[in-house]
Amino acid sequence: MDIRPEPFEPPAPIPRTIPPSRLEIIKVMFRNPLELWGKPSYTLPWLQVKFFGQLTTICHDPGLIKHVLVDNAANYAMQPIRQLVLRPILRDGLLTAEGDVWKRSRKAMAPVFTPRHARGFASQMLRKSEEFAERYAEPAKHGAEVNIATGMTELTYEILAETLFSGNIATGTDGFADRVDSLLGNMGRIDPMDLLLAPAWIPRVTRFSGRKALRAFRQIVSETMDARRAQMASGGHVPDDFLTLLLKIEGPDGLTRDEIEDNILTFIGAGHETTARALAWTLYCVAESPHFRVLMEEEIDRVLADGADPVDWLDLMPHVRAAFEEALRLYPPAPSINRAPVKDDTWTAENGTVLHLPAGESVLVMPWTLHRHELYWDRPRHFIPERFLPENRDRIGRFQYLPFGAGPRVCIGATFALQEAVIALAVLMKRYRFDVTENTTAWPVQRLTTQPLNGIALRVSAR
Ligand code: HEM
Repeated sequence: MDIRPEPFEPPAPIPRTIPPSRLEIIKVMFRNPLELWGKPSYTLPWLQVKFFGQLTTICHDPGLIKHVLVDNAANYAMQPIRQLVLRPILRDGLLTAEGDVWKRSRKAMAPVFTPRHARGFASQMLRKSEEFAERYAEPAKHGAEVNIATGMTELTYEILAETLFSGNIATGTDGFADRVDSLLGNMGRIDPMDLLLAPAWIPRVTRFSGRKALRAFRQIVSETMDARRAQMASGGHVPDDFLTLLLKIEGPDGLTRDEIEDNILTFIGAGHETTARALAWTLYCVAESPHFRVLMEEEIDRVLADGADPVDWLDLMPHVRAAFEEALRLYPPAPSINRAPVKDDTWTAENGTVLHLPAGESVLVMPWTLHRHELYWDRPRHFIPERFLPENRDRIGRFQYLPFGAGPRVCIGATFALQEAVIALAVLMKRYRFDVTENTTAWPVQRLTTQPLNGIALRVSAR
């Protein structure tokens, strides 16, 4: 007999049953695009709708997703609206580069992101997580509430700054985190001009304040690079971090100076808020799932008592990893992967239906709806981390679960993020227990990432 308690159903917008009016679409796009999707988006294998004059194909069928992201990926460019928002900031960083620049950069950076290098960062991840955990010692004494969303952003930012620059930032570390915050705050915003696909040179009023911040930020990154380059040239000891690894591939077959700067900005943009959000959602969902929390705590206590190297925690803690993966399913930090066919394309479904994907129109693969889709998941809206335990994992198809995307543009930082998450969760949950209180609210909104509106308050207490 299965005696597990009823699984937790975390909050999310209820699928619409009546299509929104044009005006409502605009309002919802600014307030929270996650509230836009109707029942068909959670039940049909694909849909084609007109959206601001553009034909938008929403793909859920695993064969169709494979076609777009893998088999015919060369015919799918980044969607113009995404590029209009991100390119002015990240320029030729890997996330926004296209064509030959992307191809050369991805090849040059592959060795930087090998599992071996990610494993090399485990000790920094552990140290930064332990330092961070100390900050909860005082609130834990009184069982006080902490905002876990801002906490996790601080933690992942500190891990990134350490693995990126080893803390050697040109202006010193003071205030750098605030600059990153203001940069990211501006970055995800879609301006009305973007929706109209106005050319990039037309100013975006909603992003005015970001330009000065961006200039100052780039200046700091550039000075930091110069200092490290000088250190490398002098033959002295240099830290084994991302910055050194990137500077080592500077050159004609690798990256240009500007591209290295763009990629540092890209790692900051793509590499810490994403993991932070997923960590906060994990702690929240686990707080609401005491039976699974006990299994995680037992696992963490056992592995740590054995003195295992943090490099191996990801493999040794399947329950911790499963909770994180389930949170990535329910609250994918990147809720939408946007493409546009370069040339007209067609795809034939198993039942013989032919789908037309015209050049320049919009094609969306949406982890948000895909991961909550009734055709592909059992109890899609419930937090059931057991799905991701090794004995069940094979039942999840490659193209029904895409927190990191798929194909040639799959997230280059996925192993780094998974390892970081397991280490951070293990360190925090070894010392503390996080519980919901009557003040806890958690409502997902789509900004740059899927983030909780007004954070998530949890009570922290010593275990
Ligand atoms: C839980 C954490 C993360 C999530 C959910 C995530 C998600 C994603 C997704 C969905 C894509 C594909 C976008 C597309 O196809 O349009 C992507 C690409 C990318 N991610 Fe991540 N990411 C995470 C962590 C990281 C980290 C830690 C880094 C770097 C340190 C990183 C760097 C990148 C880069 C550079 C790309 C662009 C790859 C390319 O286009 O070749 N990400 N990420």
